[in-house]
Amino acid sequence: METAAAAEFTRAYGRPPAGVWAAPGRVNLIGEHTDYNDGFVLPMALHRQVVVAAAPAAGRSTVRSRQQADVAEFRAVSVEPADVAGWAAYVAGVAWALRSDGYAVPDADFLVDSDIPVGAGLSSSAALGCAVARAMIDLAELEVHGTELALLVRRAENDFVGAPTGLMDQLASIHGRTGHVVFVDTRSLVVEQVPFVPAAHGLTLLVADTRARHQLVDGQYAQRRQTCRSAARALGVPALRDVPMDDLEEAVRRLPGQTMRRRLRHVVTENARVLDVVSVLRSGRDLRAIGPVLSASHASLRDDFEVTVPQLDVAVDSALAAGAYGARMTGGGFGGSIIALLDSRRRDEVVTAVENAFQRCGFDPPATFTAAASPGARRLS
Ligand code: GLA
Repeated sequence: METAAAAEFTRAYGRPPAGVWAAPGRVNLIGEHTDYNDGFVLPMALHRQVVVAAAPAAGRSTVRSRQQADVAEFRAVSVEPADVAGWAAYVAGVAWALRSDGYAVPDADFLVDSDIPVGAGLSSSAALGCAVARAMIDLAELEVHGTELALLVRRAENDFVGAPTGLMDQLASIHGRTGHVVFVDTRSLVVEQVPFVPAAHGLTLLVADTRARHQLVDGQYAQRRQTCRSAARALGVPALRDVPMDDLEEAVRRLPGQTMRRRLRHVVTENARVLDVVSVLRSGRDLRAIGPVLSASHASLRDDFEVTVPQLDVAVDSALAAGAYGARMTGGGFGGSIIALLDSRRRDEVVTAVENAFQRCGFDPPATFTAAASPGARRLS
């Protein structure tokens, strides 16, 4: 991808790029809809990535993509949220966020390439933002790194693009590491990379993109956030993270209405499940032990948080029926992808079982691949 992006840049702009940068998509092993509740998440960066070739330009920035026909232009010194629409807003938004943090951002030409499917719940937009941010920061010779960079990219998504995401995706794309998942306490923002190598246990972490497309700018995600905020207010806590497991039943009784109660139950139990999985990973025990915890997360997202769709449920159920140790939807939900933990030698059987189940239900065929924990955003050349 690196060579193709550089060659396409040269063709489009008539000069070679000054550099090529990359940032990965992610799957979340566990900890769903917890990041905007100040809770715990455990994503891992994927080998699927966004690659950006870029070079300084005079007077205006131009954005092209190998996947999209439209070309966008903006001026880094003056761009405002209404100026750029569509996917290029993720690029312009980073320039805007840097500028509003007081950094001088020179204009540049960009050529974007990606092998992360859009709308698959694999964080194609966070990867785009992170790759562009790394490029802009290097071109401008600024010192912005790690979590500060992730926060900046999230601000571009929230306030420029208008997608009300939490911080998990950007943190995964920045802090990813080969053979590790990224454990984050989203309140303290302490990040710990925890070893996760399924192959060492004869296991595979399979990703199945159900091809049911989701949109975080749609109202459902924002609505979940709003309900969680209202529930926290009703309980008199800063965030749902502050409800201990031991107080869950009492807190549930204090909430008005079944919807808030179910949302609370998901968030509190999900945070506990993240800690369970982290303790298995840290102890070096057999990874099969996390299987039931992953499946319990899915049930909670289906029944209490209500963010699954039939494709996600069918994919999870058919993977489990074919012998997976655990399976769950990953990402925001309302479509997108599932992950399943299975014996590597049963991979083909599980894939076939999911494909057959999709065919029986009349769904589009899923796209499957094996997840490999990969490095975070970086300069390639
Ligand atoms: C999306 C958001 C994340 C997170 C997940 C749900 O991926 O971008 O911040 O909230 O949904 O866990």
